[in-house]
Amino acid sequence: MQKITIAIDGFSSTGKSTIAKQLAKHLGYIYVDSGAMYRAVTFFAMQQQYIDDKHFDINALVANLHNVAIHFKLNTETGNADVYLNGENVEKQIRTLEVSNCVSRVAAVPDVRYQLVRQQQEMGKEKGVVMDGRDIGTVVFPDAELKIFMTASAETRAQRRFEELTNRGDDVNFEDVLRNIQERDYIDSHRADSPLIKAEDAIEIDNSNLTLNQQFQKVLELVTMTLENLE
Ligand code: DC
Repeated sequence: MQKITIAIDGFSSTGKSTIAKQLAKHLGYIYVDSGAMYRAVTFFAMQQQYIDDKHFDINALVANLHNVAIHFKLNTETGNADVYLNGENVEKQIRTLEVSNCVSRVAAVPDVRYQLVRQQQEMGKEKGVVMDGRDIGTVVFPDAELKIFMTASAETRAQRRFEELTNRGDDVNFEDVLRNIQERDYIDSHRADSPLIKAEDAIEIDNSNLTLNQQFQKVLELVTMTLENLE
């Protein structure tokens, strides 16, 4: 069967990666979490002390981007691909609230975007890929056969993220998580380079009131329709 490219964009914590992973497994496609790549660069910048809450030395990061190598490798225990920064598995470290608090500023740097977008396009060049992010349907794969734009209220998203962080043992409070989501929404959709916007031909899904299964069935219908239209 013909393979397609599926782009899933949307605000933070709308459940993009959950649906993208499910879909990739079901279709036998590659799943790429583009946000993990921006998080890995951010973690690198934090390790090198180029960025913290108060300062960001953009020039130092840009000058050292050639020292940032990001790869994905299958984790046989979870069945998902973990992200590696310069050979080290950083899957857990990149998901902290500290990284979330810095990542939108790093993702607004054009040189960072240029490097990661090229790598993402390379990973998807054979098609058969589900990639989630903010600019996948607009910049990375403007010709993707299926584009989905996920939304949900900020409170719903903060609640999901709060549960995810507390379940893994992080000591966070709901207000901080909500504030982080609102700040990232603002920065991600107002930056000059590749802001988060819905592609004209993307299909919007508000999953505030959908169960995971309802959402999956809906997306699967869209995939089937897209494949039928190609025949
Ligand atoms: O999907 P996520 O929350 O893990 O993404 C982390 C940040 O990376 C998000 O605040 C915006 C940025 N990002 C981006 O600018 N472009 C992408 N394609 C994916 C993520």
